[in-house]
Amino acid sequence: MNKKIAVYAGSFDPIHNGHIDIIKRGLKIFDEIIVAILINEEKKYLFSIEERIKLIKKSINNKNLKVETFSGLLVDFMKMKNAKVILRGLRAVSDFEYEFQMALMNHHLNPEIETFFMVPKEEYTYLSSKLVKEVVKFGGDVSSLIPEVVHQALKNKLKF
Ligand code: PNS
Repeated sequence: MNKKIAVYAGSFDPIHNGHIDIIKRGLKIFDEIIVAILINEEKKYLFSIEERIKLIKKSINNKNLKVETFSGLLVDFMKMKNAKVILRGLRAVSDFEYEFQMALMNHHLNPEIETFFMVPKEEYTYLSSKLVKEVVKFGGDVSSLIPEVVHQALKNKLKF
């Protein structure tokens, strides 16, 4: 049988409940999901690749979920993994243009690849890793928006 593999790519700096919601619901649709963390030497991240992998694995444990890293083009990574679907969460209209461009470009690069959009739970539609970091840094409460392990890691990292 040909496994239906979806790749959920991003920075995951750090993973939050919006990501987890998409992954959990995606696992009901696909046989396997590969969370693919982009290695981008040009960008500064709060958590190292190893820390991000650990936080994802501690936040969600499912035998059909793999956590990997990639650099270069997503479509090349997908070819290597024999995956045909890119899984993306679409939060708000503001996401749309960027997502539309990426979906079209990826399809141009490999017409066999489809982008599958899911809408996260309403309470996570405004959620982003960037905002989570900012709020924790200034002592705001995001405990219902991130796993406890991520909350602790953020507090340690930001010496809160
Ligand atoms: O979490 P993000 O920042 O929205 O994730 C973006 C990501 C990692 C999916 C995108 O930047 C990506 O696929 N980068 C790899 C390089 C690539 O394939 N670029 C062409 C995409 S159209």
